Amino acid sequence: MLFKNTIILCGLAAFMQVNAQQAPSVTLKEAAAFPVGFAIDPVRVKNSEPFRRTVLEQADGITATNCMKPSRIARQKGVYDFDQADQLIDFAIANGKRVHGHTFVWYIDSAPGWMKQIRDSTELENALKNYIQAVGTHFKGKVASWDVVNEAFDNKTGAVRQDSVDQDGKTLLNVGGILGKDYVARMFQYAHQADPGALLFYNEYDQEKNAGKLNAVLGMVADFKKRGIPIHGLGLQMHINVNTPDAGIENALKKLAETGLLIHISELDISMNTARTKPFQPTAEQLEKQYRKYKFVADAYKRLVPEKQQFGITTWGIGDADSWIPGFCKCEDYPLPFDKEYRAKKAFAGFAEGLQSK
Ligand code: XIL
Repeated sequence: MLFKNTIILCGLAAFMQVNAQQAPSVTLKEAAAFPVGFAIDPVRVKNSEPFRRTVLEQADGITATNCMKPSRIARQKGVYDFDQADQLIDFAIANGKRVHGHTFVWYIDSAPGWMKQIRDSTELENALKNYIQAVGTHFKGKVASWDVVNEAFDNKTGAVRQDSVDQDGKTLLNVGGILGKDYVARMFQYAHQADPGALLFYNEYDQEKNAGKLNAVLGMVADFKKRGIPIHGLGLQMHINVNTPDAGIENALKKLAETGLLIHISELDISMNTARTKPFQPTAEQLEKQYRKYKFVADAYKRLVPEKQQFGITTWGIGDADSWIPGFCKCEDYPLPFDKEYRAKKAFAGFAEGLQSK
């Protein structure tokens, strides 16, 4: 009987270890010497007590997952709906959290339908200029920083995107094709005019694995500096997986930091389901790899980004139930530091350990 109980207890201990749901001894904001943030939306803040509590306990800052995108704020041309964003920002400010605005211009989902229909360059330029003016002014003084342009560079060529449809035939905002490649610079100028106190970021994905994209970003920064275009920071989205090579992460952090700009790991999540299967249950080995990758990312950021350029690390969601990855990969995955009940995972421990590394 004693033997059987011991086996049960050992089995339970192994299960607990895999899921690592013991209460952590430190919070992320205590562990980090720079701001740690979560991408969140106001509905979860309102409806989920554990979600809200985790934001309050763990984060120094927030990014709006969706509610500050043009598709939400300007569903109709010239009509601005700030309700959701205002709710989120009031919550953040009342609780002393820094707000990062995401995003003024994005070629994909976030552009409203009416904007995607515009073909005339003057009309589109004015639509974007007016949007940035209205929204930047509305949030002035409340938003510390903005992703001004998101994902401008093409995955294959590294040139400014000029596609009007994606591979599935979905309409895109062909801002590069209609306005020309220098539109990115003009959007930064409009953002600066709207809120001269806001820190302005360019945000991009895959810089840790796509040399062409990384070089495009570095080239853009060099060009902006030469021409006096206002830019203060660079966002690395870092939607990575447990097998993403460490060397690529280090290379991107190092090269981007050499610009002297603020560096934001802006949308971190670390997938385990690299085969994109459904269903998917992570093995102990995959959970261990996720733990190590979170630790590596936080440690590499500390090592390679000079302190005065450390804008922070933001994860895209808090718990696995918030993640956009399952919808995107049409598979199951668990890419975040907290589980679906907002209990700290092993990945959380890795993140906290990396943040505390010397
Ligand atoms: C995603 C959101 O998480 C989803 O809810 C939404 O349906 C699509 O956008 N890169 C970005 C983010 O810059 O804005 C995206 O967020 C994830 C990829």
